[in-house]
Amino acid sequence: MYDIVCGMKLGDKPTFKGLHKRKTYCFCTKDCQSEFKKNPKKFIEGTPVVELKNVYKEFDLGRVKVPVLHDLSLKIWEGDFVALMGVSGSGKSTAMNIMGLLDDVTKGKVYIDGKETSKMGSNELAGLRNEKIGFVFQQFNLLGALNCRDNISLPFFFKKKSSKLEQNGNLDKLINNVGLKDRVEHKPLEMSGGEQQRAAIARALVDEPELVIADEPTGNLDSKTGKMIMDEFRKLNDKGKTLIVVTHDSNIANAAKRVLHLKDGRLISNHNNHKK
Ligand SMILES: Nc1ncnc2c1ncn2[C@@H]1O[C@H](COP(=O)(O)OP(=O)(O)O)[C@@H](O)[C@H]1O
Ligand SMILES: [Mg+2]
Ligand SMILES: [Zn+2]
Repeated sequence: MYDIVCGMKLGDKPTFKGLHKRKTYCFCTKDCQSEFKKNPKKFIEGTPVVELKNVYKEFDLGRVKVPVLHDLSLKIWEGDFVALMGVSGSGKSTAMNIMGLLDDVTKGKVYIDGKETSKMGSNELAGLRNEKIGFVFQQFNLLGALNCRDNISLPFFFKKKSSKLEQNGNLDKLINNVGLKDRVEHKPLEMSGGEQQRAAIARALVDEPELVIADEPTGNLDSKTGKMIMDEFRKLNDKGKTLIVVTHDSNIANAAKRVLHLKDGRLISNHNNHKK
């Protein structure tokens, strides 16, 4: 049995209970219980932007199978700002790739806006990746032949929805905000690691996707630049966009509304930051 608020496995742990429309629901903590009481509809009738249900993932290396995610269930709600934490090797990138539709699962289900992804065709999946999701990779994946500005504006080439004016307005502001104003003509090889990372982040944010999935986006950044980046994330979240960010940095985790901890491919905690 799972806590419907945070997705924690309840087992036979003593749990907190809540009654709604004559049904009893169980929660892992008092906080989850009160979260539910505040707005039960969200958890019972609402549709998460992303949901993993009993997800297992193993990598098949021929003679050996490497199990990585074990029965992972979680929900990401619209407007959520979630930090995903855990030591190296705990399965964070694997989980992010699955939520970003870049990798499939061995067992279990993935839903985007309530729709099961295994039932979608490749066109529909590609459409979601292009239109809905902005992904920041742990390795930056910038295109070497393009300069910084063109790398950042790449998402616009795949979309027709925004006007030139809008694109340029957004683009210039964002380039400025991530501190790359003096680097727009540089190709990735002519930029430092931190600059490349900032360009990769700007690229994921430039068309304001509904869902941003960022894998250790501030890993190579000094704390001041890391803070600039977090400000950009927060601004997007204030506009109602949903963010999932892998981080080792507790300052960044503090900026999020909710923190998920993975350990050995299992969710060991999933709770609100109570400062918010
Ligand atoms: N493509 C792959 N093939 C085989 N093993 C992998 C692959 N990707 C990740 N792993 C293994 O899965 C585990 C979790 O990796 P990862 O999700 O990258 O963790 P994290 O991002 O938390 O550091 C590690 O033991 C890693 O070696
Ligand atoms: Mg990783
Ligand atoms: Zn809970």
